[in-house]
Amino acid sequence: MPLFQERKNATSLDQFVSFNRITDVMRMPLSDPVKEGLRGDIKGHVVHLQATGRNPMEGGLNVNHILSDPEGQLYVWRVPKDNPSMSTQIAEEFSQTGFLSSGGHYRFRTPQEQVRFMENTAQLDLKCFTPLHTDGDKILLPFIYGIPFDVYLKQGGIAASFNALNNLHRSHELNVVYGDRWVKNTMVIADEDIIELDFDIELQGSYAKEFELAQTLYHMLHFSIDRTQMLGFLSSYYKNNLPLQKYDIAQIQEFLRNYANYFQDTEYEGISGGVQEEVAELIKTFGVCVRR
Ligand SMILES: Nc1ncnc2c1ncn2[C@@H]1O[C@H](COP(=O)(O)OP(=O)(O)O)[C@@H](O)[C@H]1O
Ligand SMILES: [Mg+2]
Repeated sequence: MPLFQERKNATSLDQFVSFNRITDVMRMPLSDPVKEGLRGDIKGHVVHLQATGRNPMEGGLNVNHILSDPEGQLYVWRVPKDNPSMSTQIAEEFSQTGFLSSGGHYRFRTPQEQVRFMENTAQLDLKCFTPLHTDGDKILLPFIYGIPFDVYLKQGGIAASFNALNNLHRSHELNVVYGDRWVKNTMVIADEDIIELDFDIELQGSYAKEFELAQTLYHMLHFSIDRTQMLGFLSSYYKNNLPLQKYDIAQIQEFLRNYANYFQDTEYEGISGGVQEEVAELIKTFGVCVRR
């Protein structure tokens, strides 16, 4: 089954990045873009972004409206929404997985902080995209032509996992921690490359990187249609232990164990049952690597 059947216009990462460079000088007077559209200046050319009638893409904390320029290039207007139950759920996950008791903290980034974070990571050449504008509350973003990583994993994809982990480890080496990496905030684009999005949550504390890695790995296993294949991929990826040299491996194992216990037997995101056996296998793989 072709992975990109839903969005046929997938662009390569190169095209995507150069698109960012053209548009990142955009300045916009704002009204109500969803109703009236946005007028903006891209390198001296005035463009008018208009509503597309496409359904907005809704997450737990934001509604993403899809706008279009006259040539049909799409943009996303990201509007925060109130969702107190989501905040409770987030707090519970951080508590139950042991992140807080291991000295970790989290906070919500303001829209300006999210924009600054994206600009910084894009400058470091990490797989992140440059925002185009913020009015201090809402953010204008390029539309990413791709499919969410969880959908990709449910379709049996695997190659993007290699790109996602490479990017995550490179980010951590540069002291960039994204926060909220549960594969639904990662998009798979053309050539099975990836782009990270959604930076509402900031993680702090000495084990933030260990937690982010465990969260990513847990969800990669959870959403994989073929978990044996995913385990095989992960044990070969971590075989020589090189990507883990700067991490506290025992702490990653602890977070993984807690994740597996926390989601044990409950239906989670439409998939029933936990992934305890697979997580135990993964912990064993890492166990071989522990030298403390
Ligand atoms: N710029 C974008 N291009 C394409 N899809 C996007 C874009 N931004 C968000 N999405 C889609 O919308 C979903 C929800 O957006 P997200 O920013 O993660 O909201 P929330 O913070 O509420 O989770 C994402 O998981 C992704 O599938
Ligand atoms: Mg999200």
